[in-house]
Amino acid sequence: MTALLEVSGVSVSFDGFRAINNLSFEIGHAELRAIIGPNGAGKTTFMDIVTGKTRPDSGRVLWGERSVSLLKMSESQIARAGVGRKFQRPTVFEDQSVFDNLLMALRKDRAPWKVLAYRQSAEDRARVAELADEIGLGDQLHRKSGELSHGQKQWLEIGMLLAQEPRLLLVDEPAAGMTLAEREHTTDLLKEAAKTRAVVVVEHDMDFVRRLDCKVTVLHEGSVLAEGSLEHVTKNRQVIDVYLGR
Ligand SMILES: Nc1ncnc2c1ncn2[C@@H]1O[C@H](COP(=O)(O)OP(=O)(O)O)[C@@H](O)[C@H]1O
Ligand SMILES: [Mg+2]
Repeated sequence: MTALLEVSGVSVSFDGFRAINNLSFEIGHAELRAIIGPNGAGKTTFMDIVTGKTRPDSGRVLWGERSVSLLKMSESQIARAGVGRKFQRPTVFEDQSVFDNLLMALRKDRAPWKVLAYRQSAEDRARVAELADEIGLGDQLHRKSGELSHGQKQWLEIGMLLAQEPRLLLVDEPAAGMTLAEREHTTDLLKEAAKTRAVVVVEHDMDFVRRLDCKVTVLHEGSVLAEGSLEHVTKNRQVIDVYLGR
């Protein structure tokens, strides 16, 4: 089986500082993966590289069955190729309903005037309802998005990304600012989403990572320090030293 995403020998420096240092790893097709590591380990920079926001100085980033290089593609081309990214701050349209936000996400490939003129098909309404159920907002479709809780807005944004049917979903610190119940719902949602696509989650909260119950990659100083189950990596001497700041 070939990987969906293959990162190999990637390095990038900012003003002489190596934020990513000969980084190599692979993500499978329908895989849930957690990336952990101390602040400054390079987790966000890794996502910036995969999404085309940051260009590495060296290395390869290969995508899909045909192993095309993402490094030659623009940010929008990478998004169209099936890489979706969730940022920490939700970017939902607060004045619009949950339904409208999901519908717009479904129709994102159309020009705005076409979205306005567009008559909703029964198929699209059904897809929006399905997405809302998937993110746990099935009973909130007609609420104004601005009225949702912080956690619900995060789920809506995940739903808006899922509407685009990405093959890889990158999520940076989803649990930040969430209540325990919201965090639990978020793990369920991400686990469900990873049944049909790859989902890579960067997260600090160890209880959250434990509940994800997936393979973990530990980044440190821009390289992979350890990889395996959470139980396995937390027994690793180097990982323990890094987390204890030794
Ligand atoms: N655009 C940038 N310019 C300069 N330094 C950066 C830039 N992006 C990240 N860095 C540095 O690279 C290192 C890795 O950052 P980052 O990927 O944000 O770490 P993490 O997400 O693991 O906390 C940090 O030392 C950070 O200050
Ligand atoms: Mg970060």
